[in-house]
Amino acid sequence: MSALEVRGVTVRFGGHQALSEVSLEVGNGQIVGLIGPNGAGKTTLFNAVCGVVTPSAGTIRVMGRDVSGMATHRRARQGLGRTFQRLEVFASLSVAENVRAGVEIRNTWERRGHTARQFLAQGDSLPADAEVELILNRLGLAELADVPVGSLPTGQARLVELGRALAARPSVLLLDEPASGLDETETADFGALLVELAAAGLGVLLVEHDVGLVMQVCERIYVLDFGSVIASGDPESVRSNEAVVAAYLGAGT
Ligand SMILES: Nc1ncnc2c1ncn2[C@@H]1O[C@H](COP(=O)(O)OP(=O)(O)OP(=O)(O)O)[C@@H](O)[C@H]1O
Ligand SMILES: [Mg+2]
Repeated sequence: MSALEVRGVTVRFGGHQALSEVSLEVGNGQIVGLIGPNGAGKTTLFNAVCGVVTPSAGTIRVMGRDVSGMATHRRARQGLGRTFQRLEVFASLSVAENVRAGVEIRNTWERRGHTARQFLAQGDSLPADAEVELILNRLGLAELADVPVGSLPTGQARLVELGRALAARPSVLLLDEPASGLDETETADFGALLVELAAAGLGVLLVEHDVGLVMQVCERIYVLDFGSVIASGDPESVRSNEAVVAAYLGAGT
């Protein structure tokens, strides 16, 4: 059973076909890349998976369960988590309060065996405060707990957004350009964090223009161009694929 299975998803905005029969799969514990030029449809695919836009065709399964007709919040309960291309955080709230929002929401749900809880170790039986502390420690944010997120540089704010997503203990996490605004060291640290998350069993679908990061951490990569998957495979095969070089990577990547 895959963490995420997308089959034949088509999305139209009026006369514009943003996605054409896109299929992809993310296994448990796997980091999968989704790359392609601006406007290729990457964010639209995330929105379709989350239920923010309604596809005209196709199915979406999370941990084997068909979520295609479900509302966004119910998909989250099934184990779907995401972060946003244009950072969505509560800027006036502190780092701890942002993560706590994720914990509180999850505490209203029935508990499930979501894989990300392994990353958080003994988090299951902890009171909310202790769980927030645990997440902040794991993400290296402990010293910033009381700082308003609006005053943080982008790299740290993106980690807060990730922490809030992890607080819901997803089985699959969709990350939309998480390394944008991060410097080289932050990007390397972030890559290591992704590898740790996957080792705990989490499935990760990574949209990212930092091709170096994608090539380094992803087991498999899908390439979108004009709403269609033009190539997929391991990093080496994608890097040397002529259609991918022509559409996105360019020569010399
Ligand atoms: N809500 C919408 N209504 C109409 N058109 C949209 C909507 N959302 C996206 N589009 C269009 O769909 C296409 C795909 O956009 P999308 O944002 O998914 O691209 P992307 O691959 O995420 O690009 P980028 O790398 O720049 O983030 C674009 O042509 C975009 O203008
Ligand atoms: Mg996008």
